[in-house]
Amino acid sequence: MKTTVFLGGGRITSALIAGLRLAKYDRAIVVHDRHPEKLRALRRQYRVETESNFAHAVERADLLIIAVRPDAVSGLLKKTAALPIRRGVIAVSLAAGIPLSKLQSALRAPIRWARAMPSPVCRSGQGLTALAFGRGLSPSRRKEVRELFLAVGSIVEIPDKQFDAFTVTFSSSHGYHTLATLTAAAEALGLNRKIASVAAAHALADGIAAWRKSSSSLEELLQEAVTPGGIAGTVIESLNSAGYQKMIAAGLRAGVKRARKNAAQFD
Ligand SMILES: NC(=O)c1ccc[n+]([C@@H]2O[C@H](COP(=O)([O-])OP(=O)(O)OC[C@H]3O[C@@H](n4cnc5c(N)ncnc54)[C@H](OP(=O)(O)O)[C@@H]3O)[C@@H](O)[C@H]2O)c1
Repeated sequence: MKTTVFLGGGRITSALIAGLRLAKYDRAIVVHDRHPEKLRALRRQYRVETESNFAHAVERADLLIIAVRPDAVSGLLKKTAALPIRRGVIAVSLAAGIPLSKLQSALRAPIRWARAMPSPVCRSGQGLTALAFGRGLSPSRRKEVRELFLAVGSIVEIPDKQFDAFTVTFSSSHGYHTLATLTAAAEALGLNRKIASVAAAHALADGIAAWRKSSSSLEELLQEAVTPGGIAGTVIESLNSAGYQKMIAAGLRAGVKRARKNAAQFD
């Protein structure tokens, strides 16, 4: 049986493994992390194998998922490069900001590279993952990478140079943050917390979920929800004149800048 090894047993690894278990992913899963308590928790919760010895973990991998924070990737790849690596290993980096060109120079053939940007919503099988493939990955090896992320949601394949823009746009944190903001604003108007969050979640999620399954355009749905001269229109106009669109654009630009810093700091 082929083996998928996660280097790093933190938040995104836990979300991916939960989704993979839900999907009955049929490969062996091994996790390595420098914190024994994280390995214990993953073992208990998801019945994965854990390997506290770094070299032994790498040795077992057919798919090697690099799931440490961006500032730890370079050190991890240097340690990996010092090991004898089998032919046919695919490394998949989840690290935000670090482009394929840098990964490929840090860890060369026989390792082949892919990049993936998954969301923690993978935990429920409803994730979305962007993928990009490096040099020399055959169609059948690409299929193995796609299968992993298709097990936990949908995938989109985009050029590596668009990863930062995708990363700052697709994060489920936008939804959670907006939900918390809208709920707090509704509470300030006198709704109790529970009703405020039900109303805010409906506003953000239900119409959009229906739109994704329908053939209606977003413009048509906006027209349907906004009566000319009515309340929803007044709210949107007020949000826009307070700088709503500019704030969103500025937030995304700040995220891209942060992602580029990850790339610049990678040596
Ligand atoms: N969280 C997300 O939603 C998400 C989504 C998409 C992509 N990503 C990417 O996924 C990566 C991991 O993010 P995360 O949020 O899961 O981070 P995290 O929760 O901090 O998990 C990373 C784990 O790896 C460990 N680690 C770091 N270097 C190690 C080493 N050399 N050997 C063994 N273990 C090591 C860390 O230990 P220490 O805490 O001691 O460093 C930590 O336990 C990042 O590059 C991020 O950009 C995350």
